[in-house]
Amino acid sequence: MTTLAQTGATPQLGSTTKKSFGKTPDGQPVDLYVFTNKSGAEASITNYGGALVSLKMPDRNGKVADILLGYDNADGYAGDKSYFGALVGRYGNRIGHAQFVLDGKTYTLAKNNGDNTLHGGVKGFNKALWTAKTLPAKDGQSLELSYLSKDGEEGFPGNLKVSVIYTLTDTNALRIVYTATTDKKTVLNLTSHGYFNLAGQGSGDILGHLLTIQADQFTPVDSGLIPTGELRDVMDTPFDFRKPTAIGARIDQPDEQLKLGGGYDHNFVLRMPMDKGEYLAARLLEPTSGRVMEVWTTEPGIQFYTGNFLDGKTVGKGGIAYPKRSAFCLETQHFPDSPNQPKFPSVVLNPGARYHTVTTYKFSVEK
Ligand code: GLA
Repeated sequence: MTTLAQTGATPQLGSTTKKSFGKTPDGQPVDLYVFTNKSGAEASITNYGGALVSLKMPDRNGKVADILLGYDNADGYAGDKSYFGALVGRYGNRIGHAQFVLDGKTYTLAKNNGDNTLHGGVKGFNKALWTAKTLPAKDGQSLELSYLSKDGEEGFPGNLKVSVIYTLTDTNALRIVYTATTDKKTVLNLTSHGYFNLAGQGSGDILGHLLTIQADQFTPVDSGLIPTGELRDVMDTPFDFRKPTAIGARIDQPDEQLKLGGGYDHNFVLRMPMDKGEYLAARLLEPTSGRVMEVWTTEPGIQFYTGNFLDGKTVGKGGIAYPKRSAFCLETQHFPDSPNQPKFPSVVLNPGARYHTVTTYKFSVEK
């Protein structure tokens, strides 16, 4: 049975605990919800930025480690520039020249990344205080986060009602279901920005993780990391992860695209099956711990980012500083800059339609 305790006591297996996580910069109280499942895994989520704060998963010997980068309190998230664990919106990744045209009207956004808009603008969903509600789930425990993004917020049209449901299942999966509706035609691309290190946060770089991505193509970028529009074959490039390959095996090769990204920071075009529903997009194995993570999604793309902008100056949980490439992100998404790229899958959301995407991170071990 799920219980909601207001205390800071040690959580029971299969329980939900709510605790204070500090305050937003304008003084509103922030909470942390801690879910413990029947297999001993634990997920902590805050309503500030909807961020996934920690994820504790067993290794092949049953030893649990926190595999996510993050901060110890709301102040950390208030100052965050890396989007640790955050819910990203309205538009995950970049929109070129900070503008797009819908029905002949030009919408101008904030330039918060060179000449471009990144992750929703100056105050994206990662800085919003979401309304939280715990829910029972058939296969675990859920937290629903809701947010109303008003018409014109960060330059985007339409009053947008967003709901994100996180579920920690009893079989060590973390499912994220995103839904949204709008009252005006708009564009939308929601994602979760978890920084993972399957050996445990603060345990060094992620270059030894073996990665498989179900993608035959990726979207090359220009110097501002905006896709050029080309879908390039991964064959004979360092972007071929169709067979398990160490993240670090080719990351420093003199490849033009790797140089532009400072490593991997690219959208992969997933090999989507014709039928609807979630499909396997990527798999990771961390050989020393045996931890395995699979990413399942309904989305057509995934941004593979190797923490190239981490510089060891950001201090996170437990006072640990996070150096370059000490985590990887696999952000399920529609392709970057889609509002300006007519050949990319559409990100337009119409009034009366329902945005609905699902991504699940499934954890297991390899002996
Ligand atoms: C995404 C981007 C990166 C970087 C991070 C946040 O992954 O593609 O370039 O901006 O977010 O630091």
